Amino acid sequence: MFERIDHSATAQVRFSFNGETVIGNAGDSIAAALLAAGHKMFRKTPTTAAPRGPFCMMGSCFDCLVVVDGETVQACQIPALDGLVVTSPPVPKAQP
Ligand code: FES
Repeated sequence: MFERIDHSATAQVRFSFNGETVIGNAGDSIAAALLAAGHKMFRKTPTTAAPRGPFCMMGSCFDCLVVVDGETVQACQIPALDGLVVTSPPVPKAQP
């Protein structure tokens, strides 16, 4: 569904997502780099564990939440940089 239409980038960035190495283009947001690498699901909802991935790509929907170096952020608003450690937010355990 997602593919790059501009292949002119000359510099790449490398970071990890849930332990997997992701290579993006310099200037990508984390969300853009993950989508281009084939990752569609970034997190699960806390209530039903339904899969969520980027929707608006402009900071409105919060469906792209990820944890970057320990802080929960909107992946579409943060530039992808070398060495970032990106993970899906933990899904809280259901209350009995
Ligand atoms: S994709 Fe909607 S806030 Fe990031």
